Amino acid sequence: MRIAIDGPAGAGKSTIARMIAERLGLLYIDTGAMYRALTYMVLANNVDPNNEKQIAELIKKFDFEIRSDEIFLAGQNITRKIREPEVTANVSLVASHFAVRQALVDLQKQIAQQDNVVMDGRDIGTCVMPDADLKIFLKASVKERARRRALELARRGFSFKLEEIEEQIRERDTKDSNREISPLRKAEDAFEIDTTDLTIEEVVEQVLLLCARGKTNV
Ligand code: DC
Repeated sequence: MRIAIDGPAGAGKSTIARMIAERLGLLYIDTGAMYRALTYMVLANNVDPNNEKQIAELIKKFDFEIRSDEIFLAGQNITRKIREPEVTANVSLVASHFAVRQALVDLQKQIAQQDNVVMDGRDIGTCVMPDADLKIFLKASVKERARRRALELARRGFSFKLEEIEEQIRERDTKDSNREISPLRKAEDAFEIDTTDLTIEEVVEQVLLLCARGKTNV
């Protein structure tokens, strides 16, 4: 069983994907965490996020590992660090480079071949697992996505302005949707779920229902 979950930032992908994986006993892969880990590495090495050539060199040393929900880079636990605002602000730019997409999509394809997985991201249904058994595209209004992100930041003790978060989300949507290589796009055969007014449990139920029906076409 291979399930692809795509959608913009804050649509609920990781929460839903994690719960579906748990319920169905599948491996959960957060591909956004891979782009974030690489972005963390770029910033930690004082490499300009615009410099594709230097980033391509860094990728050769990209020693990434997921151990039961924790993210490691060269053995160092960076789970919290990859969620910091500086990483979030630069990740769409880093993820837009050809060399980055080539390397990380390749890695994700290898993982998808080996296991029963739920993978979430932006291009999973279109690029990484075009033959997934079930494709879900989650969306939600910008206001609701900003509200969710604000709650998450507050929980982790960051201070912020709601309008700034909304602006960042819009910016990331634009960058992720308009990049040349594997942009954020709903696969033709994906089921679209608008999570704006739904609870997490309601979304999970809808996805499980789709799994049970074994549907792959709208
Ligand atoms: O899901 P997230 O917010 O953690 O993802 C961080 C960024 O990584 C997102 O803004 C775009 C990029 N990304 C991508 O380009 N392709 C993916 N499959 C997953 C994430």
